[in-house]
Amino acid sequence: MSKLLEIKNLSVGFDTSSGMFMAVQGIDLSVEAREVLAIVGESGSGKSVAMLAVMGLLPKSATVTADSMTFDGHDMLTMTSKRRREIIGRDVAMIFQEPMASLNPCFTVGFQLEEVLRVHMKLDKKARRARAIELFKQVGIPTPEERLNSYPHQMSGGQCQRVMIAIAIACNPKLLIADEPTTALDVTIQKQILDLLVRLQAEHGMGLIMITHDMGVVAETADRVIVQYKGTKMEEADVLTLFEAPKSPYTRALLSALPENATGDRLSTVADFMKNEAANAGAVS
Ligand SMILES: Nc1ncnc2c1ncn2[C@@H]1O[C@H](COP(=O)(O)OP(=O)(O)O)[C@@H](O)[C@H]1O
Ligand SMILES: [Mg+2]
Repeated sequence: MSKLLEIKNLSVGFDTSSGMFMAVQGIDLSVEAREVLAIVGESGSGKSVAMLAVMGLLPKSATVTADSMTFDGHDMLTMTSKRRREIIGRDVAMIFQEPMASLNPCFTVGFQLEEVLRVHMKLDKKARRARAIELFKQVGIPTPEERLNSYPHQMSGGQCQRVMIAIAIACNPKLLIADEPTTALDVTIQKQILDLLVRLQAEHGMGLIMITHDMGVVAETADRVIVQYKGTKMEEADVLTLFEAPKSPYTRALLSALPENATGDRLSTVADFMKNEAANAGAVS
């Protein structure tokens, strides 16, 4: 597999009244084409900041440094900001934690989706509507022709997140970054959205970075895992190795927080975990 995104020694500092605060401290990170990389760690460990640095979406108070940052063979550190926006806008898409906050309440969801198709894909009105309907179908929104005319507040949180996913995949990105995409949703809807993301990733052959604080989500989705703690990488492993033989005490602590491990005397393997998940899902529905 070829490297899609490769970053060496990424650091992000914020200028604060009490000096420089280092939110990300020298992280190496790479994602291959068609790979699902999970970045896991508790709240505040610098997961979002690291990805916002990749997207170029951090505020001016942030200082980003890296030894190298390449996307699909392009050197992102030396390219012009115009070129970077072109590449990021088209080939890398990001889904944020709060679907309601990410959509504009003043416009219909159809307009917001079609706007992306107009700007980035240069499609005419008729082609935009056809593609919007097709995208809504892909993300499992029923009666898409009608739903395109809805405003965000007329849709549930789960439906809004599906709209966000439709917008994210609209330009056929090579890399999708999903930043805690299910945290704001009900438990039953969380599973549906995760399944949808994994299915779309496979169907479209995208690389996917799944940011989460939840080891259950890691087990459901990832090929490879980076465990992040206070801005540093504690551990990196393929998902089976991480669950079967976690090296870092922090990883072990994250794993022991899983409901299945509440007694703390045994770490379940991914296979065990999946079995439990499947049994639980069966019990609920
Ligand atoms: N704009 C900012 N200015 C100052 N500190 C920030 C800013 N954005 C994030 N941080 C800090 O950086 C750290 C990492 O944040 P974040 O990446 O959002 O964590 P995570 O996504 O892992 O929960 C936190 O301590 C947070 O308070
Ligand atoms: Mg975050």
